[in-house]
Amino acid sequence: MDFITNIDDMRDYSRKARGEGRTIGLVPTMGYLHDGHLSLARAAREECDIVVMSIFVNPAQFGPGEDLDKYPRDMERDRRLAAEEGVDVIFAPSAEEMYPGGYATYVEVSGALTETFCGGSRPRHFRGVATVVAKLLNIVAPDKSYFGQKDAQQALVIKRMAGDLNMPGEIRIVPIVREPDGLALSSRNTYLSEDERRQAPGIFRSLKRAEELASAGELSAARIKEEIRKILRQGRDIRIDYIEIVDADTLEPVETVKGNTLVAIAAFVGKTRLIDNVVISS
Ligand code: PAJ
Repeated sequence: MDFITNIDDMRDYSRKARGEGRTIGLVPTMGYLHDGHLSLARAAREECDIVVMSIFVNPAQFGPGEDLDKYPRDMERDRRLAAEEGVDVIFAPSAEEMYPGGYATYVEVSGALTETFCGGSRPRHFRGVATVVAKLLNIVAPDKSYFGQKDAQQALVIKRMAGDLNMPGEIRIVPIVREPDGLALSSRNTYLSEDERRQAPGIFRSLKRAEELASAGELSAARIKEEIRKILRQGRDIRIDYIEIVDADTLEPVETVKGNTLVAIAAFVGKTRLIDNVVISS
């Protein structure tokens, strides 16, 4: 497996692979890999000749007072896990490489896609995400790039950006990988104390309940939200950031579940903010 930190070297690598007629799959991550990330690499492995995984904790997507400094990092372990999964290249640039002095250009996706949900509680977050993903797509020039449904809003923002800016390559969305008790895998789960870890699956339990209610014919978004709230309140250290029931493509709020509806939750468990979602089809 190759390990590249320099943008020009990454470009050369991609150019050469393309010249040899090989397809490239890109898996953007912030590292501290878990099986969610690795499932993206597996999807890329199945569909592309070369798998490039980027590992970059992107300062532009963290707000002031967020966890940029304490975000977990372990490059040795990441290298081992990526190699075991058949990743061909890790691209791990430094912050200075990606945002050198004088850096001044940002990509902003406007409207409901970025203003609601995580955009409301994390202003500027999606500007940072869109900017870094645009840069990665420009540098690596993949045929396909892979993102997790775990970050449903992020996936939609990236699809919108790539479509609006006519970026080449396909954006692929991969299902959420969960722990046996339902907790969605996340690098941030490592912040949880034992007690908080026991409470955290309440988030998924409440989403399952929403699914059950909808399939039993309860289609009122308000009533489903109330049921979710009841379950989340059972966790002593759980504090709700948002519960949203929206159209799965536009993120516009719906009053009644119909078509593909996204039920998305962000909640603090202790000090750790976790997100999760399910898509209900009626
Ligand atoms: P990160 O949180 O490291 O996640 C990298 C990718 O893994 C994202 O596409 C995310 O949706 C996916 N992922 C995380 N947990 C998952 C799970 N349990 N199941 C399936 N996929 C999962 O998301 C980011 O990094 C950054 O915002 C990034 C896109 C790399 C831009 O900096």
